[in-house]
Amino acid sequence: MKDKLDDILKDFQNRVVSISSIQKLEDLKVEFLGKKGALTSVLKNLKNVAPEERGIVGKLANQIKVSINGEIVAKRAEIENNLVNEKIASEWLDVTLNSSKSQLGGIHPISKIQYEIEDIFMSLGFSVLDGPHIETDYYNFEALNIPADHPARDMQDTFYFDNGAILRTHTSAIQVRGMEKIKPPFKVIGPGRVFRVERTDASHEAAFHQLEGMVVGEGINVANLISTMKTLLREIFKKDVEVRLRPGFFPFVEPGFELDISCLICNGKGCSVCKQSGWVELMPCGMVHPNVLKHGGIDTEKYSGFAFGLGMDRLVMMRYKIEDIRHFHSGDLRFSGQFV
Ligand code: DAH
Repeated sequence: MKDKLDDILKDFQNRVVSISSIQKLEDLKVEFLGKKGALTSVLKNLKNVAPEERGIVGKLANQIKVSINGEIVAKRAEIENNLVNEKIASEWLDVTLNSSKSQLGGIHPISKIQYEIEDIFMSLGFSVLDGPHIETDYYNFEALNIPADHPARDMQDTFYFDNGAILRTHTSAIQVRGMEKIKPPFKVIGPGRVFRVERTDASHEAAFHQLEGMVVGEGINVANLISTMKTLLREIFKKDVEVRLRPGFFPFVEPGFELDISCLICNGKGCSVCKQSGWVELMPCGMVHPNVLKHGGIDTEKYSGFAFGLGMDRLVMMRYKIEDIRHFHSGDLRFSGQFV
């Protein structure tokens, strides 16, 4: 009987070493210690053992039960420990490794130049105004002395909503809005996005950017207009830029001018941006028409003013030598990433 008990222990010990899963360990436990287990059947047969040996065998059987239990507990801990180690090994992360380079957002070149120009104007005493993209016919056209039959109102140029509202076609729409808020003398600019029904090409987009400027005060004249424009261009391009002034017609100014600068992409030689002319129309401008001042509630006997509209996209193209306006809205990170 004693030998049999020893064999049970040895058998258990031989088998337990190769076990590597909790389930198999449980099965082994049942096999040895369960109701029908090897050790249990020995204990059940204890009554057949001679009375003088019964105590010794019973004691030994209990000792073996205790050792088997102990070994099972130890084995379970070992298996669980291994599982944890395996998990750690498989999920191991080297936090000292270089991470892949993250893409940093940047400021769009148009916004960048816009902020720069706002700073220049603010240093000259201008305030910055804002206006809505969705405008009324009144502010976009009528208040600006643009008669109902003017070609600018043509469906081909203007995006109309069903309710008669429009997408503003120029930042000049902020002029009368501005005059309703601020009383002269004043100097304001209004930068923003404008929209026109356009066939796109290297220099035309349906959505583009302008910066409107307006100065109203006593005795404001063309000389003030020209000197302000020159100062501005020198500040923007950080050098004296060749300019030319041509007469231009806009219903909201009288007289009106077209201010061109020599193309900085081709140095005046001719390219796709300047349409081979060597000149780029940059800033239409003029003396504010009295009808416009009247719509703004301004006394035209006392005050006069000038206004200008800066084509932001072209300016940025000149500044960074960008040959195609369509890059601006392309969303191509290879383009915008250059201005970060
Ligand atoms: N609003 C005009 C346009 O988009 C540009 C313009 C011309 C603005 C003359 C002005 C101006 O302020 O005086 O074509």
